[in-house]
Amino acid sequence: MVDPDPRLLGRKVARIAFDEPTIAARVKELGDEITNAYPDGNLLVLGLLKGSFIFLSDLVRQIVRPLQVDFLVAASYGESMVSSGNVRLLYDPETTLEGKDILLVEDIIDSGRTLSVLMDLLAVRQPKSLAICALLHKRIATHLRYDARFIGFDAPHEFLVGYGLDHAEDFRHLPYIASLE
Ligand code: IMP
Ligand code: MG
Repeated sequence: MVDPDPRLLGRKVARIAFDEPTIAARVKELGDEITNAYPDGNLLVLGLLKGSFIFLSDLVRQIVRPLQVDFLVAASYGESMVSSGNVRLLYDPETTLEGKDILLVEDIIDSGRTLSVLMDLLAVRQPKSLAICALLHKRIATHLRYDARFIGFDAPHEFLVGYGLDHAEDFRHLPYIASLE
């Protein structure tokens, strides 16, 4: 059990899966990997909202290259804890993707459905390159038709919240990642 955290409003998390220093250290390493992978920079980093908002803001500050940031908004789960496979795009990046190096940043890969659908949508816009960076990967994705190039952590097969991840919109602001009881 975790000490009572006033952020939780009396609700309980089962355990902390990744604490703040662990996340910060890994995000720094990911930033180094991405910096080295794009020597020329000029990346377009596309954050998938809302789940990636904290990860993305920490990550881009560790990428030591020229880059631009935009967002995608997709809806998939609703309030359920199970992926529906119904992925809808609610906001599209303003910038053209053609000829650009795109890094799609996602919070967590579960079934892989969300990313597969989004990658299909982005690929037809003929970017120069298209790569995935996910903070967490449950390694059970049966629907992911693309390679996830940059991964933060292998995730336990539990429902995780915090550091951007939600359950029914709660818990996104936790500075750590916890599994929900
Ligand atoms: P997928 O399409 O099944 O890969 O699910 C990916 C999306 O589902 C992520 O962008 C998350 O928003 C959500 N998701 C999957 N697993 C979790 C979890 O453990 N906690 C919170 N959200 C999750
Ligand atoms: Mg979500």
